[in-house]
Amino acid sequence: MSTRGEQVLKFDFSNCFKENLGTGITVSELLTDVNAVTHSLNYVVESSPGFLRILKTNESLNEVKSLEKWIQKFDTIVVIGIGGSALGNRALHSALKGFSWNDLSNKQREGKARVFVLDNVDPESFKVITDKIDFKNTLFNVISKSGSTVETMANYLVIRQMLENRGIPPKEHLLFTTDSKKGALREIANKEDIKTLNIPHDVGGRFSVLTQVALLSAMAEGINIEDLYKGAKKAMRKYISCEKPEENPLVVAALLFYRSIKENKNISVMMPYSERLYNFADWYRQLWAESLGKRYDLDGRKVNIGQTPVKALGAIDQHSQIQLYNEGPNDKIITFIKVNTFSNEVKLPDYINIPDELQYLGDSDFSSLIKRELEGTAAALTNNGVQNMTVIFDKINESSTGDFIMFYELLTAVMGKLLNIDPYNQPGVELGKKITRVLMGKEEEDISEKIVKAKRRYLL
Ligand code: PA5
Repeated sequence: MSTRGEQVLKFDFSNCFKENLGTGITVSELLTDVNAVTHSLNYVVESSPGFLRILKTNESLNEVKSLEKWIQKFDTIVVIGIGGSALGNRALHSALKGFSWNDLSNKQREGKARVFVLDNVDPESFKVITDKIDFKNTLFNVISKSGSTVETMANYLVIRQMLENRGIPPKEHLLFTTDSKKGALREIANKEDIKTLNIPHDVGGRFSVLTQVALLSAMAEGINIEDLYKGAKKAMRKYISCEKPEENPLVVAALLFYRSIKENKNISVMMPYSERLYNFADWYRQLWAESLGKRYDLDGRKVNIGQTPVKALGAIDQHSQIQLYNEGPNDKIITFIKVNTFSNEVKLPDYINIPDELQYLGDSDFSSLIKRELEGTAAALTNNGVQNMTVIFDKINESSTGDFIMFYELLTAVMGKLLNIDPYNQPGVELGKKITRVLMGKEEEDISEKIVKAKRRYLL
């Protein structure tokens, strides 16, 4: 599905400026704040966050590569994880292997593994996945940085029991990807001598797609993880350069998003015109939401800052969302994702074989149509004064995907600095997790008052 060769992303910011929108700011007005962004970018680079550090050391890549031979004996990998421990796996899978991969025969897959993700605890979807796999040929990769996330632990316990019930030694079919020292998974692994991969201590879930968390399943299904790294590294060098900041897409994007938040544009829509990239919109949703949605800034001031990420899919959501984006509140900044060259083409019939009313479609093809739909939607939004930009993949392959990941991870970190918040924590996720554990019977510090408060009912 993926095609080899170096690819770099291109960015079209034209429809973010007064020159096209007829309203808002000009390019030169935006660039008056460029120093704040280059300062933030330098700060991020100098603080060497884990997601950049691992690219320099290759430690994650090398650890995963050391299991290359061992995983070849499995026909199927099931990732058991949630949030940052699942979304990167799923995004790489659909972007680089496409949708039918898991339905292909072993021969068609040239012996590479199928990859499924068990993240939810929905009893129906659990059955859909477990019915499709042969436990004897499956590796269950239990991924949890904390080693205690309830959904992951529940899926793990059930899968383990299913292995035991089938007389299959769990140890031979389990891999734990977790913290090198802490957490329940680490304890079980130590006790039972289960194979493990270490999640780097300084990389949080939503920044972990280029770590052991997603690289193992990617390698197993035949994604070239070295090319993915090459793409990400090349992108990193490009985006951290402040030599000509006005020509650096990362700097321009940070300026635009920062300004949009300050102008109360509280929604950021990501709309790929490629179904293979839709799961990357999902990945972006977590990255942007959990990293930037914060109650307090770094000085302890209550700021309740953030921008709600929304995913939409072109062309489908033109028939669902675009009315709102064009004519509803102008509170959004839209990012389209365009793919220039698709791996398959569908030709439309030639002119003579179609009725007069549909002549405009004659002799064309689906990839031209979907691109014209993106351009038409962008033009309509621009005419309505709605800021929109386009990220352009020449082709979807390892290199361009690595570039995309690096762009958004760096952008998120820079935005955190600009907004003076910590983009790497998620205190707002913890309370709900804690209450769930108590409701399931775990004894934790007393939060009964909080539970009672949320239990007042207005049931109709
Ligand atoms: O980004 C994050 O930190 C979260 O979304 C986590 O990835 C998610 O909650 C799963 O956590 P864990 O890997 O500890 O099971």
